[in-house]
Amino acid sequence: MSEELTPENPETPESLETPAAEAVKPRKNGLYPAVSDELAANMKSGWADTELHGLEPIAQAAHTATRRAALSARFPGERLVVPAGHLKTRSNDTEYAFRAASEYAYLTGDQTQDGVLVLEPAGDGGHAATIYLLPRSDRENGEFWLSGQGELWVGRRHSLAEAEQLLGIPAKDVRELPAALTDATGPVRNVRGYDAGIEAALTDKVTAERDEELRVFLSEARAVKDDFEIGELQKAVDATVHGFEDVVKILDKAEATSERYIEGTFFLRARVEGNDIGYGSICAAGPHATTLHWVRNDGDVRSGELLLLDAGVETHSLYTADVTRTLPIDGRFDALQRKIYDAVYEAQEAGIAAVKPGAAYRDFHDASQRVLAEKLVEWGLVEGPVERVLELGLQRRWTLHGTGHMLGLDVHDCAAARTEAYVNGTLEPGMCLTVEPGLYFQADDLTVPEEYRGIGVRIEDDILVTADGNRNLSAALPRRADEVEAWMASVKQG
Ligand code: GLY
Ligand code: MN
Ligand code: MN
Repeated sequence: MSEELTPENPETPESLETPAAEAVKPRKNGLYPAVSDELAANMKSGWADTELHGLEPIAQAAHTATRRAALSARFPGERLVVPAGHLKTRSNDTEYAFRAASEYAYLTGDQTQDGVLVLEPAGDGGHAATIYLLPRSDRENGEFWLSGQGELWVGRRHSLAEAEQLLGIPAKDVRELPAALTDATGPVRNVRGYDAGIEAALTDKVTAERDEELRVFLSEARAVKDDFEIGELQKAVDATVHGFEDVVKILDKAEATSERYIEGTFFLRARVEGNDIGYGSICAAGPHATTLHWVRNDGDVRSGELLLLDAGVETHSLYTADVTRTLPIDGRFDALQRKIYDAVYEAQEAGIAAVKPGAAYRDFHDASQRVLAEKLVEWGLVEGPVERVLELGLQRRWTLHGTGHMLGLDVHDCAAARTEAYVNGTLEPGMCLTVEPGLYFQADDLTVPEEYRGIGVRIEDDILVTADGNRNLSAALPRRADEVEAWMASVKQG
């Protein structure tokens, strides 16, 4: 009997001891009984050659090349390292679903765990890109069937040659990268926070300040979307619209169970039509609508109350929608719900109208906030005049959050951009942002009449800045109160 391939024996084959194989070490859970020499030998052979040839490049390969060229031009003569990240442990030997770092996906179109993109300075002043990936599992040393991340367990990976064809980037074995980076000389920058092994290899060569400049550049580069990205955002929104329709159809089942039925229903759509949800779905019924990030979703769903549903499908290319509708659970707004809803609708209309090229980014926020402040004064909830309310920000007790944000690979996209390039910046065609005003009256807010308490309304759409104004990517979901009611009735009828 050979013990050398069992997890109980620390003398695992040498190739499993390389740094990059750390993540693929055998599980210590007894799943692997001792194997005989005969079985070990037997498992090495008798497998068909499944190498794929003549693969077409992925749809965004030309776009990722353009994005890498812009990055190259910004940092001439410097080695740039952009990791995808690793699996994260959820508990014991189970992991969260892997989601590649947005910077890596943006520059490569790839989503493979453990991958790293390196731009190496080239003689001509530009860079040569290499993508470092884990190759096919080795059958000689048993990795493919004895490692928890071996292909027999988790599925086939692309070979390096296949990856090169698909991505249009030369590929190498990622297990060689840490040593190569340690040995390399010359200036280098790394996107931090995803790959501790890469950071350890670079620890004496990088500074936090210079790495931050790389992160900021990549964040700002993502503000204006290319044609591929706009198409993906529209796909994300279209799938999200289907998810909202799915939810309207099952509101009676949610009433019989909980908000979880809504969460699960939307998630089903996200997984079937897209890659995932782009962020935790907020399925907030009744007073939960006043909790901005209500993602526990374990509350009751009651007829007569409102459902605030904030959810977005993420596409297979990782672009996400971010849409909110506030729906009367029984299909009809009552008078007060409608009054509050109409105010938020009016604020959103004003906000959307302010989204156009050349406008200050802050304009849509200011336009929405003004409408909401006017309503709060009109309703006697805060003392006017409106200018005083806005100057002191008194409306914010009930408006709570900013009116929107950039949208893309991340729901809060471009988050590392400098203030002057984002919040104090100017809108340009190709930017995509949410416009999402809301009013929230907490259940324990003694400063408003009792009937307001526990009502929360947000309406959120995904707005693309165009050459002459904007396009509402989520216009297929009705927003006006009467149109919402009519839409719900028709969706329920099926
Ligand atoms: N769903 C998070 C947001 O609306 O910003
Ligand atoms: Mn949002
Ligand atoms: Mn949202």
